[in-house]
Amino acid sequence: MKVGIPKEIYPHERRVAAVPETVHKIRKLGYEVMIEAGAGDAAAFTDATYAEAGATIVPNAAALYAAADIVLKVRQPIATAGGAHEADLLKGGATLISFIWPAQNKELLERLAARKVTVLAMDAMPRITRAQRMDALSAMANIAGYRAVIEAAENFGRFFPGQVTAAGRVKPAQVFIVGAGVAGLAAIAAAKSLGAQVRAFDTRPAVREQVESLGGTFVEFTFNETGEGGGGYAKEMSEAYLAAEQAMIAQHAKQSDIVISTALIPGKVAPPLITSGAVVAMAHGSVIVDMAAEQGGNCALTERDKVVEKFGVTIIGLTDLPSRMARQSSELYATTVFNLLKEVSAPEPNPAIALKLEDEIHRGVLVLRSGELMWPPPKPPAPRAGGPTGAHKVLEAKPAHPPPAPASGGGGLLAILVAIALGAAVVFGPPQLIQHLTVFLLACVVGYHVIWNVTPALHTPLMSVTNAISGIIVLGGMLALFGGGSGSLALGGVAILVASINVAGGFLVTQRMLRMFRK
Ligand code: NAI
Repeated sequence: MKVGIPKEIYPHERRVAAVPETVHKIRKLGYEVMIEAGAGDAAAFTDATYAEAGATIVPNAAALYAAADIVLKVRQPIATAGGAHEADLLKGGATLISFIWPAQNKELLERLAARKVTVLAMDAMPRITRAQRMDALSAMANIAGYRAVIEAAENFGRFFPGQVTAAGRVKPAQVFIVGAGVAGLAAIAAAKSLGAQVRAFDTRPAVREQVESLGGTFVEFTFNETGEGGGGYAKEMSEAYLAAEQAMIAQHAKQSDIVISTALIPGKVAPPLITSGAVVAMAHGSVIVDMAAEQGGNCALTERDKVVEKFGVTIIGLTDLPSRMARQSSELYATTVFNLLKEVSAPEPNPAIALKLEDEIHRGVLVLRSGELMWPPPKPPAPRAGGPTGAHKVLEAKPAHPPPAPASGGGGLLAILVAIALGAAVVFGPPQLIQHLTVFLLACVVGYHVIWNVTPALHTPLMSVTNAISGIIVLGGMLALFGGGSGSLALGGVAILVASINVAGGFLVTQRMLRMFRK
């Protein structure tokens, strides 16, 4: 099976869908890898580095598409300069993994369907924890948020941090971020690290903590409506809300040097938030970066793919922000693509695409299966309410409290036996035994409640505590060993063995976790 990586021909696109490191990994899955000559040039990956990683360099796109069983791309197929369409170059029955945007590209889907190809869309990745390592959109939005601040700084022409110098005082730049999803949060972090004072607003109040943890100030806006759509997804706001929000944003924009807008509901046109009036009211020399330019823009005066000056304000509508940091964005994108390829591949010795339709990830990204339209996928079960962050950060379901264990016949019998044993111990046992049993039972009840109410993130510190308890058990076991009687010898031996396993296991896991944090 041959995996092919063509050179991107989309205007201004510098990224490439595989880097030498992922080429190496794809080969380890058992595939042969071919790459078009010069595919990585714009991202600073030379043909020689690909050849070193084991890829065959193919002279042109036609030769590559003709031979490739699986094609990895960044942008959706488009018409080439020569008039041919990349979709028509695909081998019949091949698989294409790329950004596709199926909702916006119906004609492209028909063209691809005619080739009887299978298409997996990187932009259709379900936003669940298991899919995070394949989440190309979040990886790119993170880079874009950072780059938006750099583009703003380039056009702003003033300091970001405040300074007190002998020649006078310089005020810090005021940055206002609209929409605190992945890109918005990355922009807050970047602007803050440059020394600006940052305010941010989002319709989902749940992001307040994240904004504040990055050093930004969350802007208050009282309106009887929230953007929390459940499961961490934002929902579309009413017209009345948007009108009030526009007025609030105009107010803040007027006091800001830089506005970076990232507001978007996935799959919808970007909400119009910065009116022409708001732009007019901004100080001359201010900058707006409209990251939603590709979806129609949050600002009324944005021109897609252009940097324009309107009423003395520079408005940046660039849609290639990740591509402007091509090496790093290629590395991250290539990793997400490799992770998806690995996810959907049958293992060696016969590596091939083996989709499991019952799998949420496989089904989610599947747009065409041998030409048959599979998109959109059936709706997943209703999202959980109150997810913590942007659409991409929906975590897998974890009930707040464990469901009560179903009453089983075996469990009931065990409870009766335990009760009889305890009764016998109380009646016939020495008085110390009753005291110890009471402590033991109380410890069981308290321990059970403590452990079930601890969030998974705190399980490691909890384990350290249980390790300490195990230490006490080892000591108790040692005392029992010398306490006489074969019964206490056996019990002491078992206690030492089990507790020692717990102590050693705890050390091993801690060691592993520490290694994860070491660079
Ligand atoms: P996201 O879905 O993580 O975040 C969007 C945020 O906007 C959400 O937190 C949502 O609650 C918020 N929002 C929605 N409606 C709002 C409203 N009316 N007012 C305030 N906030 C609102 O999306 P992500 O990944 O952060 O991307 C943000 C934007 O950046 C998108 O438009 C995306 O296409 C764009 N982008 C642009 C790039 C470029 O080169 N220009 C590159 C990558 C992403």
